[in-house]
Amino acid sequence: MSMQGKDPENFTIGQNDANGETDCVTDVGTPLIKADGVTYSYRNGEQVSRGVTDVSLSINRGEFVVILGRNGSGKSTLAKLLNGFLVPDEGIVTVRGIDTADDDKIFEVRSVVGMVFQNPDNQMVASVIESDVAFGPENLGVPREEIEERITDALETVGMEKYRKGSPNKLSGGQKQRIAIAAILAMRPEVVILDESTAMLDPKGRREIMDTVLKLKREKGMAVVLITHYMDEAIAADRIHIMNDGGIIASGSPAEVFGNEDAVRRAGLELPVAAKISLDLKKAGLDIGFALTDEELAEEICALK
Ligand SMILES: Nc1ncnc2c1ncn2[C@@H]1O[C@H](COP(=O)(O)OP(=O)(O)OP(=O)(O)O)[C@@H](O)[C@H]1O
Ligand SMILES: [Mg+2]
Repeated sequence: MSMQGKDPENFTIGQNDANGETDCVTDVGTPLIKADGVTYSYRNGEQVSRGVTDVSLSINRGEFVVILGRNGSGKSTLAKLLNGFLVPDEGIVTVRGIDTADDDKIFEVRSVVGMVFQNPDNQMVASVIESDVAFGPENLGVPREEIEERITDALETVGMEKYRKGSPNKLSGGQKQRIAIAAILAMRPEVVILDESTAMLDPKGRREIMDTVLKLKREKGMAVVLITHYMDEAIAADRIHIMNDGGIIASGSPAEVFGNEDAVRRAGLELPVAAKISLDLKKAGLDIGFALTDEELAEEICALK
């Protein structure tokens, strides 16, 4: 269920009871991840540098969330806060109601929120694809028969089953990144965060990853958080957050966020191509509506008198 247009504060999350146990989450509208007033700074000796400041957001089941922002705006810091890799200085992050600052539960947090990074080569641990995908579940202590099943399922999901016995070295960038996603899927997370996972890929590789992301959402009901520099990848999002200087400066549907010219400009972002053309044509005096996708732009142009 999408949370668009709803106040995240009105959704109850699994609360810690007096024993520190977490209630089972039953509401499908419950945020899987909730960040509330989160601030984090990096400290190297005397030097302190801002990572993120007072960030609040929620990620719901089955939601496709895109985070946009220029270099150094805090996207990766936020991603690492969402899976407990970093712990906030101020504020709180909960994953299925568990505080990520709770050291005893960090394993559970990481098993709910999987992360895929930019460079697929750094994420490969084994020389045979199926061993690479097995690595995560093996570490989780999953029984051997179930690992086999998970490998098959994960590789089928990313469309790489036929490469199972092969070596990752021979694959294209997009294929390697799909294996990296499969390795995360084999741990059966509920949310996958992709931090610029398409940045090093050619257009075909990027398309493969986007198709995989949309499939995870559609067929597995998984939540996906995609951090990207590519505006066209953001068009399919349920919700977009724009970051600037460590804070979120705009949130909403793609139409809402890309319609917010001020925020887009402040964040130093480009508009998706169709949106830019539709706005340019409007400025040139044509009676044309706002278009996000190429299809919408074609419709708008055909409807011109
Ligand atoms: N390990 C670190 N030590 C010190 N400062 C850091 C560290 N990592 C990030 N920062 C600082 O935190 C701020 C946010 O960085 P972050 O990597 O989260 O941004 P980003 O939006 O992911 O950037 P990019 O698009 O380049 O990946 C930046 O000012 C950066 O210099
Ligand atoms: Mg980054």
